[in-house]
Amino acid sequence: MITKVLITRKIFDEVRTILKKFFEVEENPNDVPFSGDVLIQKLKDKIGAIIRLTDRIDDNILSQCGALKILSNIAVGYDNIDIEACTRRGIMVTNTPGVLDDTTADFTWALMLATARRIVEADQYLRSNKWNGWELMDFLGYDVHHKTIGICGLGRIGQGVARRAKGFSMRILYTDVVRASSAEKELEAHYVDKKTLMAESDFITLHVPLNPQTIHYISDAEFSLMKPTAILINASRGPVINEKALVQALQEKKIAGAGLDVYEKEPQVEPALLQMKNVMMAPHIASASRDTRLRMATMAAENLIAGLTGKRPTNLVNEKILTKFGNNSNNY
Ligand code: GLV
Repeated sequence: MITKVLITRKIFDEVRTILKKFFEVEENPNDVPFSGDVLIQKLKDKIGAIIRLTDRIDDNILSQCGALKILSNIAVGYDNIDIEACTRRGIMVTNTPGVLDDTTADFTWALMLATARRIVEADQYLRSNKWNGWELMDFLGYDVHHKTIGICGLGRIGQGVARRAKGFSMRILYTDVVRASSAEKELEAHYVDKKTLMAESDFITLHVPLNPQTIHYISDAEFSLMKPTAILINASRGPVINEKALVQALQEKKIAGAGLDVYEKEPQVEPALLQMKNVMMAPHIASASRDTRLRMATMAAENLIAGLTGKRPTNLVNEKILTKFGNNSNNY
């Protein structure tokens, strides 16, 4: 019986130790993503794998990895995986929801404050020995407190962002495909349509999943509705914003700035953005506190172990697989 699993990138020692109790573990000696062909070679004789957003799993890869029973993604988002193809082929997919919400909400706020108050620019200025002392009109930024925040997607992370916004006495607007009635009450968040949110918000922050409906959710039409003083924050997925339209909106001063953690073609970034001082950028690190990343990796290991020892993984994404193949690991 095959008991081999793959870990596609570097992982915490604690997590590797847990996995080694159950399986023969193969790791990636270099912490760079495997190319498609190498990934196929590595996955061919494995029953499961701990993967991440940088591993793109499509039907072509799956068609050549017949032993696979489970893919455990270390992330809450799973747009890197063809879920429908996995379900059709009887492969479970799991993710890591819940454990990263507060850490990601904290980071969204870090982006918001850093962009509005020009923190990175000011830091670079000081380090370059240009500072001659307190100036009345240096580094004038935008207030955050008492302003209007527009949250696109009031799920767990969006709610975390709203909770923090209450502490800054902000007016909270949100839009979503479903109303979050209990959160509305708790957070004093007002449901509005997308156009109203774009037009009335001082800070627009994106917390929607990436799917066919949310690709380029923010593009020319949305930028033309925004205030010239608006700041756009994205810690969800890059393709939710049309990056070329963002560059144009910033160049034409349709908005005041942007705080970005994610990009349309990671790890590439639109070159023009790199030149803009009013854009604060981070390399997809919103969930990157040590505690949270360890929790995510541990959760991924637990999901993998459950799936391969006949239990239902806690965070199964493709539930349909249970009705299709029955809730019995021998059938997977
Ligand atoms: C990170 O981006 C995640 O989806 O967990």
